[in-house]
Amino acid sequence: MESGMPLSGRQRALIRESWQRVSGSPEQHGLVLFTRLFDLDPDLLPLFQYNCKQFSSPQECLSAPEFLDHVRKVMLVIDAAVSHLENLSCLEEYLCNLGKKHQAVGVKVESFSTVGESLLYMLEKCLGTAFSSDVQEAWSKFYGAVVKAMRQGWDTLPEGD
Ligand code: HEM
Repeated sequence: MESGMPLSGRQRALIRESWQRVSGSPEQHGLVLFTRLFDLDPDLLPLFQYNCKQFSSPQECLSAPEFLDHVRKVMLVIDAAVSHLENLSCLEEYLCNLGKKHQAVGVKVESFSTVGESLLYMLEKCLGTAFSSDVQEAWSKFYGAVVKAMRQGWDTLPEGD
């Protein structure tokens, strides 16, 4: 995911416009994202355990109230980042801590690329023909910046970073 260059004004506008269409029903769209995520990487399923109980299938996980809370939390973080597009750095400390928490529950930093793919998939499903290559590029860059901040929370990053 590209994250080097700052977002242009047009890219920020594209992100805001497209997020408006998603944010009206966050749980529904968040479920599209996580359904795709488990399709792409079923090994992420065991990381979600509530009261030490493992889910036996993605379907069971996707309908558990605790997991639905996580879906809403993810959408809220993205919503907060979209609200701070002009100044993402004010969320850096929060995102770094969020990265730390994810490392603590066993998430590998590499899995956030698969989350990015699933996010783009969800946007495409929601936006249809409005999901242009410009919209895709803007979201890739934006998500890259969010993940860059979360990565700071990992103690040891994979080789080459
Ligand atoms: C590989 C994908 C992910 C996995 C496996 C994962 C897993 C988890 C787990 C197991 C927890 C603790 C239990 C819970 O609160 O439900 C958690 C908490 C949380 N996750 Fe994730 N997560 C993932 C991606 C994300 C993403 C992309 C975001 C936001 C951008 C996010 C935001 C949060 C938040 C806000 C919390 C609550 C942290 C707190 O308690 O302060 N997660 N996650």
